[in-house]
Amino acid sequence: MKRIYFVLAFTAFGFNAFGQKTIDQKVSALLSKMTLEEKVGQLVQYSGFEYATGPQNSSSANVLNEIKQGKVGSMLNVAGAVETRKFQELALRSRLKIPLLFGQDVIHGYRTTFPVNLGQAASWDLKLIEKSERIAATEASAYGIHWTFAPMVDIARDPRWGRVMEGSGEDTYLGMQIGLARIRGFQGKGLGALDAIMACAKHFAAYGAAVGGRDYNSVDMSLRQLNETYLPPFKAAAEAGVATFMNSFNDINGIPATANRYILRDLLKGKWNYQGFVVSDWGSIGEMVPHGYAKDNKEAAEKALLAGSDMDMESRAYMAELPKLVQEGKVDPKLIDEAARRILIKKFEMGLFDDPYRFSNEKRQQEQTDNQENRKFGRVFGSKSIVLLKNEKNILPLSKSTKTVALIGPFGKETSANHGFWSVAFKDDHQRIVTQFDGIKNQLDKNSTLLYAKGCNADDQDRSMFAEAVETARKADVVIMTLGEGHAMSGEAKSRSNIHFSGVQEELLKEIEKTGKPVILMINAGRPLVFDWAADHVPAILYTWWLGTEAGNSIADVLFGTVNPGGKLPMTFPRTEGQIPVYYNHYNTGRPAKNNTDRNYVSAYIDLDNDPKFPFGYGLSYTQFKYADMNLSSANLKGSQTLKISVSVSNTGNYDGEEVVQLYIRDIFGKVVRPVKELKGFEKVFIKKGETKTVTFTLTPENLKFYDDQLNYDWEAGEFDIMVGTDSRNVQTKRINWLK
Ligand code: BGC
Repeated sequence: MKRIYFVLAFTAFGFNAFGQKTIDQKVSALLSKMTLEEKVGQLVQYSGFEYATGPQNSSSANVLNEIKQGKVGSMLNVAGAVETRKFQELALRSRLKIPLLFGQDVIHGYRTTFPVNLGQAASWDLKLIEKSERIAATEASAYGIHWTFAPMVDIARDPRWGRVMEGSGEDTYLGMQIGLARIRGFQGKGLGALDAIMACAKHFAAYGAAVGGRDYNSVDMSLRQLNETYLPPFKAAAEAGVATFMNSFNDINGIPATANRYILRDLLKGKWNYQGFVVSDWGSIGEMVPHGYAKDNKEAAEKALLAGSDMDMESRAYMAELPKLVQEGKVDPKLIDEAARRILIKKFEMGLFDDPYRFSNEKRQQEQTDNQENRKFGRVFGSKSIVLLKNEKNILPLSKSTKTVALIGPFGKETSANHGFWSVAFKDDHQRIVTQFDGIKNQLDKNSTLLYAKGCNADDQDRSMFAEAVETARKADVVIMTLGEGHAMSGEAKSRSNIHFSGVQEELLKEIEKTGKPVILMINAGRPLVFDWAADHVPAILYTWWLGTEAGNSIADVLFGTVNPGGKLPMTFPRTEGQIPVYYNHYNTGRPAKNNTDRNYVSAYIDLDNDPKFPFGYGLSYTQFKYADMNLSSANLKGSQTLKISVSVSNTGNYDGEEVVQLYIRDIFGKVVRPVKELKGFEKVFIKKGETKTVTFTLTPENLKFYDDQLNYDWEAGEFDIMVGTDSRNVQTKRINWLK
C-alpha cells in the first residue's frame, strides 16, 4: 500500500516510480521552450513527393525548408529506411530537434498484401485479422513507418460507396470487433515497441453513410442513429487506446466532421476522455471553404482547431493562419498547446526522442521485403476470406485430375488487381503476385491441362475476344470464369451507380454458359456486386474479393478443396441497385411485407422483392452443418442475470469444416422502434466430419442497451427473441421475458 502512495505522490510531481520525468513532464518542458510557430509546426502534416493519395499542392522545396525550420510535425507517404532517415535528418537540423512522425495508409497488409478489408471481414476470424495487422505493422515499421491510417471502422450499408472495400461491412457489432482486432494487431505490445505502429480510427464520423453512396457526400441522420449504429466502433477504439483518430470529409447534419464540436469535443475528447490526437483527412480543413462552412482558409483553421482537430493533413491552413489567429485573440494559445501536447506525447511514446532513427533500419527492411512466412500466412488468410455462395450438385471442390480445365475472364492472369485499392507499398512490384492462372496451374495434376482465354476486358465494350473464349470453353471439361471489378473500380472516390458486372462481362458469361459446360464463377471485387443472372444460372459461385500477394494460391486451395471455404458475407448483397440501402438490421415498419408476393399496402416495391439476393452472414461450405437443440438457461430473467444460450452444430457432410455460428436478438418493442435482428455474438468453430460441437453464448442486460431519442443509453424490460443460426436469415428462435 505504502508503495502505491509513494508512486502516486511521485508521479503527481511529474516523475515516474524510478524518479524519471514522466512523458507529460517532458512535453511540458519542451513546450515551454517552443515558439508559437514551432508549436503550430507540430500540427502540420505534408505528403511526400513520390506519390500522393489526394490532391497535392506542395512544392517540395518549401516543405524541405519548413522541416528544417521546425515547422512540420509529420509527413505522410514518405517510406523506406533510407528515405525516412533523410527526412528525419532535416528535422533534426531544426532548433529544437523534434523528430517527425511518418504516417502511411497501411490498409490491408504492407509488403505482403492481404485480402481487401471487406474480404478479411468475410473470414469473421478475429485472430487471423489481428495477426495480419501484426504482420503489416512489422513490415511497415521496418520501412520506417510509425503510423498507419487504419483501421477504417466506418459502418457502410451502401455498396455503391467504393470505400466499402476498406471497412468491415454493415454491422456495428462485427465492425467493432474487427476494428479492435486491427488495433491490437497494429499496436502490438504497445507504442515504443519497434514493431508497433500507431493505429488511427477513421473516418470520424459516419463517412460510410454518404447520401447515395457517393464518396465525400453529406450525411444527414438523427443523433440517435449516429450514436447507435455509427459511433460504437469509434468509442470502442478510443477505449482500447487507439493512438489517433482521423476526421471524415462529410458533414454531419450540416456541420463538417472536421469542425464538428459535438463529435470531437463533446464526445471524443469529452465524454470518452480520449487522450490521443486527431488528424484531419487529406485537405479536409481547407475543404470546408467549398463546402460552405468557412469563408476562407483562416476561418476554416479557426473552426477546425476550436472543434478539436489537432493536425492538419495537407490543407496548409494551420501554419498559414493559426499564428495570426492567436495574435488576433481569436484562438486561445492554450488550444494550440493542447494539440501540440497530444502529438508530442505520441512522439515520446514511440521512443523517437530517444532515437529518431529507430525505425529507419535497412537491415530490418531487407528482412521484411519479401518475407516468406508472411506470404504463407497471406495464403491461408486469402483462402479463409473466400465465400462460397452456391454449389449445386457439389460441383466444387474440383478434382485435381480433371482432364481439361479452362480459366476464362479478364482477371485470370491479372497481377495488380489482386492487391486491391490501397496497396501503397507495392508500386511496380507486381511480379511477386501469384496470379489465378499460376495458382491453379501449380495445383492441377501434371497430366491435366489448364487452358486460358481472357474473353474480354474488365470495363469496355470490346467483344472481339469472345469467339476464342467460347472455343476454349468447348475444349474443356469444366470452365472457371473469373469476373468482377478491376483494381481501380472500388476504393476512394470509386463510387459506382451501377454495380452489375461492368463492360461486357455478363454477355461473355452467357456465351460461355451456352456451351453447356459446367461453369464455376469466381467474383473478384471490393464490394458486393449485383449478379442476379449469374446467381440464377451458374451452378457454383465463389466470392473471391481481391486477395493480395498470394491470391492465386489461396484461390486454388479452395477450388481443389485443400481448404474448405467458411467465409460469411459481412454485407447484404442486393438483388439490384434499386434495393439499396438494404441491410439486415432494419426496422419492421408498421406494415411489413409477409413475403415476396405480399405487396398490397405493405412496405414493399411493386416491382422488386424485399429480401436481398444473399443475406448478411451468409456463406456455404463443402460440408453441411445441422443446427439442433437450441437451449436457453431460462425463458424468464430478472435484473442483472445472465442468459446462457447453447446450440449444437453437427457436421453431417463429407468434409471437415469451419462454421460461423451467429447470435441475434430482437427487442420486440421499445421507447424507440428496434431492429428486426441485431447481431450480438458469433463464434467460428472447426468441426470434423461426423462430429457435433456445442456452442455457447451469454447475454447480459448490457447487450440489450440502446439509445433512445434523448440519447439515454439503457435497456428496457420486456420480451426478446433470441435467435441462433448460420446466417441472418436462417435462424432458430426462442422468446424470453426479461424484467428489470
Ligand atoms: C483518405 C484517408 C487517407 C488519406 C491519406 C484520404 O484521401 O480519405 O483515408 O488516410 O487520404 O492517404
